[in-house]
This record gives sequence, structure tokens and C-alpha cells, in this order.
Amino acid sequence: TERTYIMVKPDGVQRGLVGAIIARFEQRGFKLIALKLVQATTEHLELHYADLKGKPFFPGLIKYMASGPVVAMVWEGLDAVKTGRVMLGATNPLASAPGTIRGDYALAVGRNICHGSDAVDSAEKEIKLWFPEGLTQYSHSQENWIFE
Ligand code: GTP
Ligand code: MG
Repeated sequence: TERTYIMVKPDGVQRGLVGAIIARFEQRGFKLIALKLVQATTEHLELHYADLKGKPFFPGLIKYMASGPVVAMVWEGLDAVKTGRVMLGATNPLASAPGTIRGDYALAVGRNICHGSDAVDSAEKEIKLWFPEGLTQYSHSQENWIFE
């Protein structure tokens, strides 16, 4: 099954939203594969957001992402990448629907609480970047109740 990289950004950590965000992914039926609190370096964040290098907001984005620890997670399940993005809501909070993480907790595009991989190949790259130590394997007792 598919895996996605989800990260609570520094504003989400400071605002006490880590538990609420984890609960949404757990309750949806995803399996937690990896989890850690990290103070990322600017070099690491520039690799994570390499696709956005050159955008006018890039320096501010890196500064924001380095302003405090983030919670790095890997979640696994059916269509984890696309469903994760739906759960996050649109990038611009003006367009993010109530019921989504950004639609419920964020007002500004530059303080939007949570990251989610945008494609299966970027998820694979991001998981390697944030968890070079590798991932734990275990079986999840609810699987037969969540999948057909
Ligand atoms: P991530 O899950 O964080 O990757 O967001 P995304 O995939 O919804 O958007 P994208 O990858 O295009 O941009 C990454 C992050 O840069 C966004 O989540 C925002 O925090 C920030 N960002 C994107 N566009 C803008 C912008 O126009 N202005 C500002 N200030 N920040 C932006
Ligand atoms: Mg993105």
C-alpha cells in the first residue's frame, strides 16, 4: 500500500495541534509508520522544498520552517498521498474547505500548519530525506476492518 510524508509545521507544533492532526490520520484508518520531532536545518529544508527554489516566498518559507521543531510522520494506507492532500485542504487557506486541517486551523498561506506529499514519487523522496534511518515494520490489527 501507499505511503505519504506528513509534517506538522512549526506553527502547528507551537499552537498545540500535533495531537489533533495525528488523531485525524489515525481515525481515518491510516497506519502510523514513523514519527519524530525534529529541529530541521535550513540546508535540510532547502532540499525538502527544492522544487520551490526561486519563488519569491522561498526565503521566508525556509525561515518559517526552521523557526521551531516540526513533527515528521509517515502514514500508510489506500491512496495515502491523495487522501492526505484532501485532508490537508488547499494550499491557500482562502480556498481550503472547513473540515480540512488548513480549513479548520489556518488563515495565511505562509502559516498553514501542515505539509503533505503531493505525489507518490515526492512521497518516496521525502520519506528518504526525513527518515534516512529507515522505517519500522509491524502489523496493524485493524487492517481487516479498514480495507475490503
Ligand atoms: P506543502 O504541503 O507545504 O508542500 O504545501 P503545498 O504543497 O500545498 O504548496 P507548495 O508546495 O506549492 O508550497 C509549499 C509551501 O510554501 C506552502 O505550504 C506555503 O506554506 C508556502 N507558500 C506557497 N505559496 C505561497 C505564497 O504564495 N506565499 C507564501 N508566503 N507562502 C507560500
Ligand atoms: Mg508542496
